[in-house]
Amino acid sequence: MVTFTVNGKVVESQASADTPLLWVIRDEIGLKGTKFGCGIAMCGACTVHLDGQATRSCVLPIGAVAGKNITTIEGLNNEHPLQKAWVDEQVPQCGYCQSGQIMQAATLLAANPNPTDEEIVNHMNGNYCRCMAYKRIKSAIQRAADESQSAVQMFNPKELDV
Ligand code: FES
Ligand code: FES
Repeated sequence: MVTFTVNGKVVESQASADTPLLWVIRDEIGLKGTKFGCGIAMCGACTVHLDGQATRSCVLPIGAVAGKNITTIEGLNNEHPLQKAWVDEQVPQCGYCQSGQIMQAATLLAANPNPTDEEIVNHMNGNYCRCMAYKRIKSAIQRAADESQSAVQMFNPKELDV
């Protein structure tokens, strides 16, 4: 048995230690937002966070996540600035790659709240979209970054001290 945390809840999996985390997330825990694409760590559809780092769950054996914290797209609770920006920019086409794209982008903004275009492209480089929504994905990340910066400035005490 492997014990770990998914979206803040403790999970005990009976799967064998070499079972990919993606299988456990989808079939044992029942969270279907994380997708299977290639199964060989090449497309990014299965991206989740492992202790805050973007991770390909299709190739991560469940035995390696004992005691770790996993966050899936469901763990963002539709409250992440990226999710609002995704809607505002109408990013998805078929939608299949989108949860992986958002989870990958979330780690960029967590580490670098104001990324350049080049930093966005480099960070998102390994997440494929067969619908070619790349331009809208980049726009949504820029929008989320801009709106988060605006929110910080609005509540900056120095701005209020006039
Ligand atoms: S399904 Fe995991 S990277 Fe493609
Ligand atoms: S929106 Fe269809 S694969 Fe990305």
